[in-house]
Amino acid sequence: MSIDSPSVFKVLEIFRGYLGRNIYIILLLATVASFLEGLGVMMIYPVLSGLSAADGHTTASALIMYFILPVSEFSGESDLVTISLVLMVTFFILKGLFLLITHGMNYYLKSILLRTLKGRIKDKIQRSKYNEFIKNDKGWYQNIFSEQINKVLVAYIHIVQVFTHIISSIVYMCLALIISKYFGLVLLIISLLLYIIFRKLNLHVRKISHLLVTEYNLVNNSFLELLSNFKYLKTFNTQNYVSSRLDTSIKQVSHTEFRHGIYLALTMAIKEPIAVITIAISIFVQLKMFNVPLELILISLLLFYRSLTSILNLQVATQTLFSNLGSVEALAEYLRQPARLDEKGKVAVEQSDKLIELRDFSITMDNTNEPLFTIDELTIAKKEFIVIKGRSGSGKTTLIDTLTGLNVNYHGHKKTYVSSQSLPFLNVGYVCQDPVIFAGTVLQNITMRSVNTAEDEVATNKLLVSFGLMEFVSSLHNKLHTVIGSGGVELSGGQKQRLNIIREFYKNPDILILDEPTSALDAVSSGIVNACLTHIRHKICVIVVSHKDDLDHFADKMYSIEGAKVVALK
Ligand SMILES: Nc1ncnc2c1ncn2[C@@H]1O[C@H](COP(=O)(O)OP(=O)(O)OP(=O)(O)O)[C@@H](O)[C@H]1O
Ligand SMILES: [Mg+2]
Repeated sequence: MSIDSPSVFKVLEIFRGYLGRNIYIILLLATVASFLEGLGVMMIYPVLSGLSAADGHTTASALIMYFILPVSEFSGESDLVTISLVLMVTFFILKGLFLLITHGMNYYLKSILLRTLKGRIKDKIQRSKYNEFIKNDKGWYQNIFSEQINKVLVAYIHIVQVFTHIISSIVYMCLALIISKYFGLVLLIISLLLYIIFRKLNLHVRKISHLLVTEYNLVNNSFLELLSNFKYLKTFNTQNYVSSRLDTSIKQVSHTEFRHGIYLALTMAIKEPIAVITIAISIFVQLKMFNVPLELILISLLLFYRSLTSILNLQVATQTLFSNLGSVEALAEYLRQPARLDEKGKVAVEQSDKLIELRDFSITMDNTNEPLFTIDELTIAKKEFIVIKGRSGSGKTTLIDTLTGLNVNYHGHKKTYVSSQSLPFLNVGYVCQDPVIFAGTVLQNITMRSVNTAEDEVATNKLLVSFGLMEFVSSLHNKLHTVIGSGGVELSGGQKQRLNIIREFYKNPDILILDEPTSALDAVSSGIVNACLTHIRHKICVIVVSHKDDLDHFADKMYSIEGAKVVALK
């Protein structure tokens, strides 16, 4: 058989991991269907020979008679040709029935596979640590979530076909052996020859399929870049830089897909000639050298042809499977690595006035040996107002990402305390340096819920007023229910920033962290945000990263990252 056996079984094992034992039921159903088909074909034998020529002592006839005799006794019908025809039709109807169930179940399992894979990838991404997540780019994630899953589905259909063809090849080979040892033997030899010929080709196709995974990543990345930076690229007409990279990667991927297709075309093209040549030689040898009766040649020919077609289709299915194996293996590899849920240092410990404590602490980025900064001791207590300063690139955002638990690449001690008995972890509000707007309405963007109550609207309106955004929202055609962001109303940089701050205020956090919250705001809007921050001062813990000094005199503590060291200024 023209397959790389260990790999095919390994792939079956991967799919079993996604679908459970259901995959074996499909194979069992397919076996029964193949067997019924084989029996149906065998019933032609008595019809062809008119039974008179059948040698009652051969195994072939014995097997056929095994089915014919009970029917004859039961029905009282003595014309064995009629019985054979009825049996043949019955076997084929039954085969059709089994095939219907097999295909139905196959498509059902394919839909389950789609759901399982998309769900598992989504869960895995959600559970990934930030440091792990950023190892791959967005194009990579998009690629495995759409393109690669589709290829895995194609691979699934073909792994089932591979095993179905293996089973029917074996069934036919056995039946051919029963009827004629000669044909059975020829089949065996041809299968081995095909295995040797196609083995190398299959491995090559597998290599190409791995290459395609990487190439599709490049295409997706460049395409995402074109979309996300469209405004900039359009303004300065610098699309060529990105679009030429996209062109190159598309060209590359289409070239590889073509190479890939050529191998499949080759196999498809030589399939029929191989079958016909083998059959012609076999008939010639049997007729001329062994004087075998024609009806025996015809029936074994039928089984032989079916079996050979099965073996050759097995090769086509194996090759198509191997063409998509890169995707199957890439996805299995990604899903195999366990995403750890527990976050370093984010363990709830005893209640205290403190919230977070860092000692003998240092952060080293992945690509350098020198620490970005070190901290001898930094304690953040409940209801403190803390300002963090430092030049651009000194590590302020990295420090904050470490406090929120996003960044876990650090050395030293970090302890996070529970803020109240009802919450297992700190309830953190985090206004990122780059504002985030989700697809949805103003209200949904603030509450982060699809369905909201009247109370949610009241609370949101109150915050909109506090942050000076009410006038703008009232001017929108659907007020709070206007869709914003991509596909909806675009917001200005400052409006986005204020909306992000409101979202975090809405959470009622124990600790509110803001990374440059007023960088995009004018003096008036900055004043409003600062007033809101000072209003919650000493009600909750506030940590603000700011280049401006207008909050400095409100700070209980002030830190600055200077010369790769966090120093207390206040
Ligand atoms: N994921 C990352 N991998 C490697 N290096 C990173 C990563 N993120 C940030 N850095 C590097 O770490 C340093 C600190 O970055 P960070 O964003 O913390 O600076 P910052 O003080 O917040 O600067 P800014 O005031 O400009 O926002 C920078 O030199 C940056 O290049
Ligand atoms: Mg920053």
